[in-house]
Amino acid sequence: MKNLSAAHQSAQDLLDFIDASPSPWHVVKTLETQLAAFQFQRLHETETWQLENGGRYYVVRGDSSIIVFVHGEKSVAETGFKIIGAHTDSPSLRIKPNPTTTTANLERLNVEIYGGAILATFADRELSVAGRVNYQTENGELAQSLVHFPQPLLRLPNLAIHLNRNVNEDGLKFHKQNELGLLFANVAEQLPVSPFLTLLTSQLPNDAARILAWDLNVFDTQKGNFWGANKEFFANGQIDNLASCHAAINALLDERILQSDSTLVCAFFDHEEVGSESHCGASGSFLTNTLQRISDATLQNSQDFARALARSFLISADMAHAYHPNFPQVYDAAHTVHVNQGVVIKVNVNQRYTSDGVSEAMFMRWCEQANVPHQLYSHRNELPCGSTIGAMVSAKLGIRGVDVGNPMWAMHSCRESAGVFDHGAMIAVMKQFLINNAAKNQNQRNQ
Ligand code: CO
Repeated sequence: MKNLSAAHQSAQDLLDFIDASPSPWHVVKTLETQLAAFQFQRLHETETWQLENGGRYYVVRGDSSIIVFVHGEKSVAETGFKIIGAHTDSPSLRIKPNPTTTTANLERLNVEIYGGAILATFADRELSVAGRVNYQTENGELAQSLVHFPQPLLRLPNLAIHLNRNVNEDGLKFHKQNELGLLFANVAEQLPVSPFLTLLTSQLPNDAARILAWDLNVFDTQKGNFWGANKEFFANGQIDNLASCHAAINALLDERILQSDSTLVCAFFDHEEVGSESHCGASGSFLTNTLQRISDATLQNSQDFARALARSFLISADMAHAYHPNFPQVYDAAHTVHVNQGVVIKVNVNQRYTSDGVSEAMFMRWCEQANVPHQLYSHRNELPCGSTIGAMVSAKLGIRGVDVGNPMWAMHSCRESAGVFDHGAMIAVMKQFLINNAAKNQNQRNQ
């Protein structure tokens, strides 16, 4: 596994994926481009689905959640679904509906906090916006476009230490309402149209008459980079959780795996960072509806769907907290996980993670078969543990699952980091899961 150039290749591919995907809406667009190269066909929820054995399909809901599947050669009632779940969103700042406030000839963008971002990490960085804009055309129709401004447009400057003398003692804090406005433009006078709206309009088609609404994410324009003595680490925004989406889709898009008896599913959801309760979130109906429709398309018996679920397995992939040697006190010393030392199985008996002894053992076997090291993470007992989509998807569908992820530093920072070796390892073990029949055999032994 310690082949540095192979590790760099898969990590560079991940960095490019992140750089092309500065918002959850762009994540789905980037994935669609990748899927097109493998002849995947888009299905629409409003239409009746005709599925072929061996067919390659995907469904999008809300423009920011996507379920990709390969319809297996055998009936799902006999093979079950092999599912890898992850999330497309990352904590950040979003532009409010009334976008600007002008004070002292400076136009600032009004922001709302999305999820549990480490706010101070957004200071002094070259920020910009990307997302989707809904507008009215000259013909009076509603239309939508994705926008992405790759150049630095926005900034949240720190106060000088002379004006904030205790910053190193008290920590860097921003008042969530008063102090997060993003500096955007010098404006000499009150203009009839805000420079921000003029900017958004510049990326819309010519027939755009009036902007109505948007979903705009603030992102860091600095591209992903390797760092460290041997470039064994990498840094970028959104590693949580685009690293897992990228690993899953790269595990799937392999001709050896695409020829499958089982139905293989990659389900990537928006809104995980805000609790997943939405029409396209993991707690909504998207995955249940999609699996039900796959089953119905080849239904031979009214019990087929229940039988399929009973044979199914979920890998919930999300990032894990790597050991940071400057802060040993925040970890359970017996369960630290380390960057570049393998994929992490996450365990929490209170079901913040969906893993149990059976699913952990199954995943360990796939790691061994793929020749990939694994590590076990358990949170400190006196600290509240984070959660993932794992437990809610397992509960909704009634299927066994395991929570896994790669070790990373600075989760929810504007600039996170992780290790180049772990990414290829995650892809390898996911391939092993998708290709072998362990889930089916294990469940059969349980019956
Ligand atoms: Co996450």
